[in-house]
Amino acid sequence: MKFIPVKGTRDFYPEAMRMRNWIADAWRSASLRNGFEEYDSPIFEYLDLFTAKSGDEIASQLFNLTDRGGRNLAIRPEITPSLARMVNAKINALPRPIKWFSIPRLCRAERPQKGRLREFFQWNVDIIGPQDELADAECVLTAVDAMRELGLTSNDVQVCYSSRELLSEVLESLGVKGQSSADVMAVLDKRNKLPAEKFEAMLSDAVGDKTAMAGILKFLDTGAIDPDASPAEIAASAGIAPSENATAAIAKLQAFGGYLKAFGIADWCRYDTGIVRGLAYYTGIVYEVMDVGETLRAIAGGGRYDNLLEVLGGPAVAASGFGMGDVVLGILLEEKQLIGDLAQGVELFVIDGSADMFSDVINVVGRLRSVGAAAEFSYKRQNIGKQLKQADRRGACKAVILEPDGVVMIKDLASGEQTACKLAEILSDPTTIL
Ligand code: HAM
Repeated sequence: MKFIPVKGTRDFYPEAMRMRNWIADAWRSASLRNGFEEYDSPIFEYLDLFTAKSGDEIASQLFNLTDRGGRNLAIRPEITPSLARMVNAKINALPRPIKWFSIPRLCRAERPQKGRLREFFQWNVDIIGPQDELADAECVLTAVDAMRELGLTSNDVQVCYSSRELLSEVLESLGVKGQSSADVMAVLDKRNKLPAEKFEAMLSDAVGDKTAMAGILKFLDTGAIDPDASPAEIAASAGIAPSENATAAIAKLQAFGGYLKAFGIADWCRYDTGIVRGLAYYTGIVYEVMDVGETLRAIAGGGRYDNLLEVLGGPAVAASGFGMGDVVLGILLEEKQLIGDLAQGVELFVIDGSADMFSDVINVVGRLRSVGAAAEFSYKRQNIGKQLKQADRRGACKAVILEPDGVVMIKDLASGEQTACKLAEILSDPTTIL
């Protein structure tokens, strides 16, 4: 019988684990630098939490189960509903703004393909409380900060943003409402993944009306938002009816753009009407981090979701944030050859000059480890040359060779330089050779 991992899951052998930790370390240090605190939630929740407001797509990708007590549960496909549930439970006790991050393991029953798996890790960064676009911009700054730490530049990735609020308004003014508005958004969300003709055919089916279709296409063609023009002028040039809601949404896009500039990350970001986001709970600015060649799926996605806490039984509190997966990011870092030497070396490799000195080796290793040094030894009794080779393979900085008559040679494995000392000295104070 042969056992294999389940389709769409990964085994993390030590090398892959080092890569996973390297990415997670960058996520964690960027979060802490930007003032976010870490939280976590259970890996499974009541099913309803995920079907309440996330939308049909994610609901259709749930791994759900019924426990022995007949309760309907699901493995978390995202952490945002759990975050909202946790914050709602303590809303009056938590000082605002609530700036939290998490690196959950998530499961989605998606068709596995390049960049999409059934189990993955996703860095989540969220700010709960402020209505101001400053919070959206600070989340984007945090995402950029981590990508910068991993070696990416604005020539590799772009944060493409738009406004779900403005799009809803445009659709409404063109007479596309209710379910058909949701259907049109679902098609728009697939724009970057479909050939142009197929996209237009699907959009036309979803919209129905020709005038509305022309209006949507004109809106999609809008270029960068002018920070100095009035919202009404911008609406006019994009063919948008200048309603109060539309001009307010445009003003928010301008404010967001201003904050990105002030944070010094304007060159990492661009306005892109094609960004819709698949999840149903977004209400304002939305964004996706794309590789510049756009050959990969989104690296991250997020935006403002001001209604989710209320929909999940809490008060109306504004919220904004994003999720960044490890899969597409890992592919991009590999493509850009940004993964450095992640080999995990030891400081010292202790070697016996003859087999009868092995008990001294164990002794020295124990003493070295007791003072916090990373010290290794060979399980096999071999000659010094073979043990030195093993030390090299383990990436050791120095070999500690125990020779007869209580003499110890310390060999620097990079320079070949050697110094001698006494075994008794090391045993009484192992820090002398560190
Ligand atoms: P999402 O767009 O569903 O958003 O996922 C965000 C990112 O997670 C994607 O851009 C992708 O990198 C990664 N991801 C999603 N599904 C998979 C998969 N099957 N395999 C590998 N990676 C995947 C959310 O999940 C929102 N809850 C994010 C958020 C947080 N919004 C506000 N706060």
